Amino acid sequence: MKTKYYLFALLLFIGIIISTYFIFTKNKMKEKELMVIKEQETLLPYIQNTTAYKEEYKSAYKEIFYNDFPTFFKEVNIFLNQSYTPDEINHIYTYLSRSNIEKLLDYDKVNLERYYAIPNFEIDKIDRYEEYEKEKNCSLSQAVLYVNIGLDHAFYTQIVEIDNKEDYTVLVNKYRSLNTYEPTDLVPLSYDEKYQLRKEARDAFEQLVSFGKLNNVFIRPYSAYRSYTYQQSIYNTYVNKDGQEMADTYSARPGHSEHQTGLAVDVWSEGFQEILESDANWLKENAYKYGFIVRYTKETEPITGYIEEPWHLRYLGVDLATKVYESNLTYDEYYDLYLK
Ligand code: DAL
Ligand code: ZN
Repeated sequence: MKTKYYLFALLLFIGIIISTYFIFTKNKMKEKELMVIKEQETLLPYIQNTTAYKEEYKSAYKEIFYNDFPTFFKEVNIFLNQSYTPDEINHIYTYLSRSNIEKLLDYDKVNLERYYAIPNFEIDKIDRYEEYEKEKNCSLSQAVLYVNIGLDHAFYTQIVEIDNKEDYTVLVNKYRSLNTYEPTDLVPLSYDEKYQLRKEARDAFEQLVSFGKLNNVFIRPYSAYRSYTYQQSIYNTYVNKDGQEMADTYSARPGHSEHQTGLAVDVWSEGFQEILESDANWLKENAYKYGFIVRYTKETEPITGYIEEPWHLRYLGVDLATKVYESNLTYDEYYDLYLK
């Protein structure tokens, strides 16, 4: 008798647990459903009683998701007038950057379908992307990346002046000029005070050198900060010696050298006037731990326009150098994809 009683109590207890669980999860699901519906509220009830409302777009308003910012109604009317479908408009506001949307408002209708999955595309370069894609027979995302870097034009054409010259993340290449910029926080290196780097890069470099010693890698600087005029004089010397075409493969034109940022340093192996292969290999795999990347490798030549320079280290800070190292991309590519 007693056993029956306990069994009944046990079943009752299990029953209560199970039903509590179901009630709880059902409520959670309801909450989720409500959130989705709320997120997908359509434009119609919001625009209906405003001066922006246009009767001819009523059915479109029913399919366009509402976005809560002041110029949304006006923009939607412009897109509808350009004959974008509600579905296209929803995609535009889901995938496009604000600057792309603003430019798009001034364009005739563009077929954007292939671009939704390419976050770094820029509306005003679409013709160039499609031409490059055809010409090189590459993927569209590759074309976007290379055209953004500038590679559909010859090196040293379409040059822009860099607007964040002081940033530790600054990207300097054959399409981007520092003009006559001079850093303000240069400090000498302990090896020889004629070599200078910006303070944070100097401290990191000294640590890299010490860390190298612990690993039987002995390196020393042989070129660090170079001013615009100094770069000009060495570039001219190389041009006179090897001709411009050749000089351009190993020396930057004035305004285009990373050395002018005070964030780049060339290193030799101690006792040699070159970097030994074993030291270069070690740097390639370890320099990022102290905030440096080996900027110009054999594989990156078509993108950077420079032949391999295993001695040229560029400071980016530990976090960014680690990410660039792990990405296996050139800094030019990484910058366009993640920092622009
Ligand atoms: N040698 C490198 C590319 C420079 O001149 O900055
Ligand atoms: Zn260098």
